[in-house]
Amino acid sequence: MRNVTSETITKAFLDYCSDDTDPRLMFIIERLANHLHDFVRETNLTHEEWQKGLELLMAAGNISTPERNEFILFSDVLGLSSLVDMVNSAENGTPSSVLGPFHILGAPDVPVGADLKGGNEGTTVVVGGRVTTSQGAPIEGAELEIWQTADNGLYSNQDEAQPEYNLRAHMTTAADGRYLFSTVRPAPYTVPDDGPVGELLNSTGRHPWRPSHLHFIVTAPGHRSLVTEVFPSDDPYLDEDPVFGVREQLVMDYQKREDPSDLPDDLEAKAELKSPFYVVDFDFVLADASTS
Ligand code: BEZ
Ligand code: FE
Repeated sequence: MRNVTSETITKAFLDYCSDDTDPRLMFIIERLANHLHDFVRETNLTHEEWQKGLELLMAAGNISTPERNEFILFSDVLGLSSLVDMVNSAENGTPSSVLGPFHILGAPDVPVGADLKGGNEGTTVVVGGRVTTSQGAPIEGAELEIWQTADNGLYSNQDEAQPEYNLRAHMTTAADGRYLFSTVRPAPYTVPDDGPVGELLNSTGRHPWRPSHLHFIVTAPGHRSLVTEVFPSDDPYLDEDPVFGVREQLVMDYQKREDPSDLPDDLEAKAELKSPFYVVDFDFVLADASTS
C-alpha cells in the first residue's frame, strides 16, 4: 500500500504479514497493532512524548543485568504482570500472584516443621496449613518453594550480610497435605526505584512500597502449579501495592500467641519459641491440571 494514512496504517501493517503466520501469533500481533495504533490516534502522541517513551525503554535496557530486569519491573508496575496472572488464574484454586525477581533455584530441602529463622533477627512466626485439591482432599508430596525478606526488607540475594539461601526453603507435604515452618515476619520493601521505573512511579505520584509477604510456588503432579504470595491483613501498604499483587483470598492474619504447647510436635523450634510469637494458618488449593 502506498497511500498509507493514519486510518489505513493498521490494515497496511496486517496486510504485510504472511498468511501462513502461526494463527495465535497473528491474533496477538493483530490485537497489539490495533491497540497501539489506537493509543497513538487517541492521545495524538507528539514526537517529544514518543521520544520520552523510547528513552525510558532505552534506560530500561541499560540498567538491566542478569540479576535485574527492568522490563519485568515495568510490566509489574503497569499492572501487566498481574493482569496476565489474573486471566490465567485457575477459578477453583488459590489465586496466583506475581513471582517477582528474587526467587532463586536450589533452596535447601527441609522437612515439615523446619525452622528457617535460625539466627535471623525479628518477630517469630509459625506458618502452616495444608495443600489440598479443589475438593478439599489433602495432597501428599506437594512441593513448596518458600522465599521471603529478612527483617530488614531485603532478600538474601540483595544483601551480602545474609547467607545465599537465608529464609528460603523447599518442603514436601506429608500424607495429610500439611506444611509447617517457623520463620521471621517479613518486612515491607520498595521495588527497585533507582531506574526508569522509579522515574515513572515518581512522575505519577506513586510510591514504591510493597506490602510484606511470603512467596510460595506450590506444585503437585496432576495439578496446576501455583505461584503466589500471602499478605498480612495489618500491612499499611495492603491497598496500594505498586505491582497489584494483593487478592482478598491471599490475605492472612498474624495471630498473636503466648503458649506454644498446642503447636504440632514436629515444629523443630517448638521448645525454643519465645513468647509472644505469631501463627499464620494458610491453606493452598491446587486446581486440577485439566481445569482452566
Ligand atoms: C517481589 O515480590 O519480590 C517483587 C515483585 C514485583 C516487583 C518487585 C519485587
Ligand atoms: Fe517479594
